[in-house]
Amino acid sequence: MPTDTSLHFVTLLGSLRKASFNAAVARALPELAPEGISVTPLGSIGDFPHYNADVQDSGFPAPVLAMAEQIRAADGVIIVTPEYNYSIPGSLKNAIDWLSRVSPQPLARKPVAIQTASPGMIGGARAQYHLRQSLVFLDAYVLNRPEVMIGQVAGKIDAQALTLTDTSTRTFITSQIAALAALAKELGT
Ligand code: FNR
Repeated sequence: MPTDTSLHFVTLLGSLRKASFNAAVARALPELAPEGISVTPLGSIGDFPHYNADVQDSGFPAPVLAMAEQIRAADGVIIVTPEYNYSIPGSLKNAIDWLSRVSPQPLARKPVAIQTASPGMIGGARAQYHLRQSLVFLDAYVLNRPEVMIGQVAGKIDAQALTLTDTSTRTFITSQIAALAALAKELGT
């Protein structure tokens, strides 16, 4: 935890796709964060093997330990993810499963905000509630509102540059990061 009033958040991305819409949203976060808040990306969840307790017993994979350390050092986590089959992608669940076994468990009492983006109308809303369920077990402090669910995302992204261009979405995201900062300061974690 920094000694001044600045805060540092990290981004956990749930898509592995090169041209991912959610990655485009995640890339916009550093510039959308209010003053005094920095946002940096965590490593790729694609670097994690499938969770296996036997692998864990012979030693946690280095990318898992590195991500756990980055999360522990951060003031909060912003999870940006697609919805797959009305839930979260298996690779994101796998990452959460690995992180949940590290001690001290990095997401415990950690402020977390969720963002989903989808070409569909509902913006990944259903995935958010599955994700919240897992984060209850991890004892994370998940921000309730505002909920960032970006529907029809294809029209809100510059297809060439893969950047988030929609002005009202950008403003709304800034308000969520500000709310996460307020939660982090309130909790003083
Ligand atoms: C999807 N997609 C999807 N979209 C949605 O809104 N609700 C859903 O339940 C699903 N289910 C789903 C399952 C699987 C296996 C795939 C591959 C896709 C569509 C999804 O939102 C779309 O592919 C996004 O572009 C994925 O996000 P990224 O990779 O662009 O960030």
